[in-house]
Amino acid sequence: MKILHTVEEVREWRNNVITNGGGGGSSVGFVATMGCLHEGHKSLISQSLKDNEFTVVSIFVNPSQFAPTEDLDKYPRTMDEDITMLVSLGVNILFAPNAHVMYPQGIPLNVEEQRGPFVTVLGLSEMLEGKTRPNFFRGVATVVMKLLNIVSPNVAYFGQKDIQQFIVLDTMCKELFVNTKLVMMPIIRDEKSGLALSSRNKYLCEESLKIASNIYRGLKEGQLHVGRSREDIMKSIEDVWQPFIDSGDFEVDYISIADFKTLKEVDTVPTRTTTTQTPNVVLSCAIYLKDRANSNTVVRLIDNILI
Ligand code: PAF
Repeated sequence: MKILHTVEEVREWRNNVITNGGGGGSSVGFVATMGCLHEGHKSLISQSLKDNEFTVVSIFVNPSQFAPTEDLDKYPRTMDEDITMLVSLGVNILFAPNAHVMYPQGIPLNVEEQRGPFVTVLGLSEMLEGKTRPNFFRGVATVVMKLLNIVSPNVAYFGQKDIQQFIVLDTMCKELFVNTKLVMMPIIRDEKSGLALSSRNKYLCEESLKIASNIYRGLKEGQLHVGRSREDIMKSIEDVWQPFIDSGDFEVDYISIADFKTLKEVDTVPTRTTTTQTPNVVLSCAIYLKDRANSNTVVRLIDNILI
């Protein structure tokens, strides 16, 4: 695996693929990450390796998607382990730029102080995750646009766990006519507990990880109530979570039952007749979970089910 750090190095490699890799017909798959790779990333990378002649992975902890109050400094960084995993999978290129490469004018966390071009997908970015993280999707859209412009992949893979991120990025690519197809891959869950894998799970002790698995248990209970009213679905989820709210482990940020394309809240939830049919509705949530080993640690976890 080649490890590249600059835009010029990646461009040179990409131009070689076009010139020497089968007359421009060789496809390049891309997986953007912030490192601390786990089985969820592995599934995206494996799919890219299967579908394409070449696979590029980026590792860049993107400052512009963190608010000044969020965990940018604390965000887990495990570059050596990540490289070992990428080599063992057979990835061709790791692109690991520094902040200066990605943001030549610097990137202060305070939005008022930021300079340079930024990408905003209006409408989709302000709802759900965007309510508590107002500049999050602006940061994500900006960095992904930059990465796509650098790598020029044919296909880019993103996880369903960050479903709103996928919908924002897919809209960005379609409406800014970016010549890359985006593919959404299913959520990878802990086999026993069903907890969605996330780099932020690392912040939690064993006991809190077990408690966290009730997030998915609640959503599944909600799914069982599809066909009933929106209120019934909401209540069935809250009933599962109530003991953990009462114990102070959970604080619910939101539960959403929204249209898969527009993310607008819906009153009725039509069932999907086949699994190949595009989902109608996303049942999603964000929960603040207090770590039992260290009550100063509060981790915001998201999860969703497609209906
Ligand atoms: O999902 C992530 O890890 C990040 O939001 C992404 C897409 C790599 C952009 O920084």
